[in-house]
Amino acid sequence: MKNYPAEPFRIKMVEPIRLISQKERKAALSKAGYNLFGLRAEDVFIDMLTDSGTGSMSQAQWAGIMMGDESYAGARSYYHLAEVMQDIFGFEFFVPTHQGRAAESIITSLLIKPGDKIPSNMHFDTTDGNIRARQGQPVNLVNNQAFDTQAILPFKGNLDTEKLQQFIKETGVEHIPFGTITITNNAGGGQPVSLQNIREVSEIYHQYGIPFFIDACRFAENAFFIKQREAGYQDKSILEITREIFKLADGAWMSAKKDALVNIGGFLAVRDEGLFQQISNELILREGFISYGGLAGRDLEAMAIGLREGTDENYLAYRLGQTAYLAETLQAAGMPILEPAGGHAVYLDAGRFLPHIPQAEFPGQALAVALYQYGGIRGVEIGSVMFAYPHPDTQEMVYPKLELVRLAIPRRVYMQSHLDFIGETVKEILTIKETLRGYQFTYAPKLLRHFTARFEPV
Ligand code: F0G
Repeated sequence: MKNYPAEPFRIKMVEPIRLISQKERKAALSKAGYNLFGLRAEDVFIDMLTDSGTGSMSQAQWAGIMMGDESYAGARSYYHLAEVMQDIFGFEFFVPTHQGRAAESIITSLLIKPGDKIPSNMHFDTTDGNIRARQGQPVNLVNNQAFDTQAILPFKGNLDTEKLQQFIKETGVEHIPFGTITITNNAGGGQPVSLQNIREVSEIYHQYGIPFFIDACRFAENAFFIKQREAGYQDKSILEITREIFKLADGAWMSAKKDALVNIGGFLAVRDEGLFQQISNELILREGFISYGGLAGRDLEAMAIGLREGTDENYLAYRLGQTAYLAETLQAAGMPILEPAGGHAVYLDAGRFLPHIPQAEFPGQALAVALYQYGGIRGVEIGSVMFAYPHPDTQEMVYPKLELVRLAIPRRVYMQSHLDFIGETVKEILTIKETLRGYQFTYAPKLLRHFTARFEPV
């Protein structure tokens, strides 16, 4: 097994975790209605529900927290963040927001009219939800190979430019207020997008006068993949790559809870001054004054420092190496996964692993529950629980292409032995997998049901 670069940090403060007994885990599952969102986090041993806001901050960030300037307007911490933002992204204007979806809410409420369509490689579920909330329609135009879990490609998050041309011609530019691309593609396996693809997508949008925004949550991981995999970028620094990426866009939003290595935060950045003024007015109405958004001054300080640390090459080599190591460990243990490993997560192919469980009985949920029952490990189902819906005309269920379980790796939190433990748990599950059964709902709300649904074993 390939080892990854050793952690470029050592531990100064520890947070205890514990593996409760299997009997206690079974009881916790039953109490939670077999929905892992319903568990008490203390009852989880290794928590891979999300990589969002779950990372460890550094000593420099904690020191920055103490140095944060809490002035209502024009705080020193805001100017520190502005300087870092300028260096990495280069946009003329930006506002802090309390997280990514707040930025999405502002931009969608300003730009979308009912009936508009917003193209992307794939929208993340909060972006999707914000677009729909303005009576717009999110459109996913990722390359078809993104749905082939076994296709090993360097940039499986790329947007299909032929589909994009076709889409613009059919829809008409007057119904496309902006276009976007998500880097890396979280909804499609955490796969990166190449700089060449971003350039081509930018050219197409601009050829039609469509403003181009980047959903930049995992921009640093994406930039490192470009350095590793795209011809001509091996000798470029991460900052040279990020500047080249964002020069192609008219704006970007980001959940800083990912690659900015903070527990809360985000931003919305643009080039257009008129749009910035509109954004500022919305921000003041919903989030706070333009120099703090929905955050405390200390959060801005932690974010400024985190953005620097998140773009450090030694950190990124360790980070992506760790994800690849988990992928290899799980494959060696007999688990089919979406290949290749993504940046922030490994996506287990539950459809392949449990072919005896039909989609109507949620193989992803069965695997996610088994990981908790056998190892106290928490992932998230990304399959029919999250995405199946009844067809509006026929009421027949429409199922997604893939039944996945995502294990998202918090940043700078778990060690190699935690990952090996997940591998051992998978080996144990392999020996009893024929006995695993599906689940059915006992309660399911109409929208975003995966968060609060309850189940029972079939
Ligand atoms: N865009 C992408 C690509 C995301 O992955 C997320 C969050 C958001 C936007 C929204 O940001 O949570 O700060 O409001 N993803 C988390 C996840 C929740 O688990 O993948 P937020």
